[in-house]
Amino acid sequence: MSPYTLGIDFGTSNSAMAVTGPDGQAQLIRLEGQATAMPTALFFNDEERSTHYGRDAVGHYLAGTEGRLMRSLKSLLGSPLLQEKTAVHGESVSFQDIISRFLAELVRRAERQTGRRPERLMLGRPVHFVDDDSSRDQQAEAALRLAARQAGFADDDIRFQLEPIAAAFDYERRISQESLVLIVDIGGGTSDFTVVRLGPDRTTRPDRAQDILATSGVHIGGTDFDQRLTLQQVMPHLGLRHIGPQGREVPSPLFLDLSTWHLINWLYSAKVLHQAQSLRENYSDTHLHDRLMTVLRERLGHQVLHAVETAKIGVSSTREPASIDLTQIERGWSLPLQPQELEADLLPQLERVGASAQECLRRAGLAHSQIDAIYLTGGSSALQPLQAQLRRDFAGVQLVEGDFFGGVASGLAYATRQ
Ligand SMILES: Nc1ncnc2c1ncn2[C@@H]1O[C@H](COP(=O)(O)OP(=O)(O)OP(=O)(O)O)[C@@H](O)[C@H]1O
Ligand SMILES: [Mg+2]
Repeated sequence: MSPYTLGIDFGTSNSAMAVTGPDGQAQLIRLEGQATAMPTALFFNDEERSTHYGRDAVGHYLAGTEGRLMRSLKSLLGSPLLQEKTAVHGESVSFQDIISRFLAELVRRAERQTGRRPERLMLGRPVHFVDDDSSRDQQAEAALRLAARQAGFADDDIRFQLEPIAAAFDYERRISQESLVLIVDIGGGTSDFTVVRLGPDRTTRPDRAQDILATSGVHIGGTDFDQRLTLQQVMPHLGLRHIGPQGREVPSPLFLDLSTWHLINWLYSAKVLHQAQSLRENYSDTHLHDRLMTVLRERLGHQVLHAVETAKIGVSSTREPASIDLTQIERGWSLPLQPQELEADLLPQLERVGASAQECLRRAGLAHSQIDAIYLTGGSSALQPLQAQLRRDFAGVQLVEGDFFGGVASGLAYATRQ
């Protein structure tokens, strides 16, 4: 009998897990109430010295509880920042340890639901954790492996599978005839592609290497879209590109970090607050500086990104203008986001995502006309301008929308049989 394996999709924005049931079908684990995916988020509550996960973590932060929110931790894999220590409930812990705690909590929740401790883990990984740097990419996988070891698993019991290949195995269960498919997985941190041959008769074959024709990927996802929109739409109101009394722009590095989900926590130190305060002389309009200082002092960085992300999803879903709600920073303050702005701001990134999809087909040695379908998974694959880009690039190929948040985890459960 094969070992009891838990498939874990540790995502930049959301995590999900699955096991295969007695009928051979993947079963997603309920992570928070009935929800089978949960935000990859932790909140360290300073008032009660408690640790919260997922929606619970985000909810505490948005409600203004004193403490620290951590999001987008996967983006730190492969970066030297992973080893940096931070104070958590009076203890100095590294971000590596924080990832380990999150993974251990996931395993605990799976165990609680299934009543059985998994013997083996099948972890998803993007095609590239880090672009154009294979040694940092290997470090990233090694760091995720270490987190799994710290969660109690032996090295031999930790396996990896590429996230887009896992998504393909899940899709395969829903098709009735053999097809050549371009799998597109666009999440919070990365865009991953694979060209695979799928078919109902192939699901049980022990070795699928021959069916995977090519993979490609680029380190761009929804958190990068949020960053870009924040820099374009919100940060100018806090001083980005603002011209000061000496005719010079306010220095910009702070605004970039403040728009980057995984770097926000570094901005709340006394040192950075002091540096930010001293920027005041670079402003002609000090009201803009007041807003910047409010965001930093009151630790509202994640609030700003959350407001931008909500507006992004709103515009994308309705194709109508939405508002970026900034009332936490200044009473009654909001900024409009127009569908044309969403498209124009994200165009350079979407073109790079589109180019990576084309590259995958090129590597497979296939023309567009030889592909039967494009299968979309990952939350950001719902983004309207992105779908429009794919329709332009792959005119005539059918786009199939899949399970945006659970597909990779289910596929990892199926991959355990490979
Ligand atoms: N309707 C929508 N339109 C556009 N973007 C969306 C929509 N719904 C969710 N998103 C975005 O999808 C992203 C999260 O997707 P997902 O949960 O698939 O990512 P992930 O698996 O955590 O990340 P990764 O696979 O890159 O590590 C977020 O950036 C979120 O803003
Ligand atoms: Mg994902």
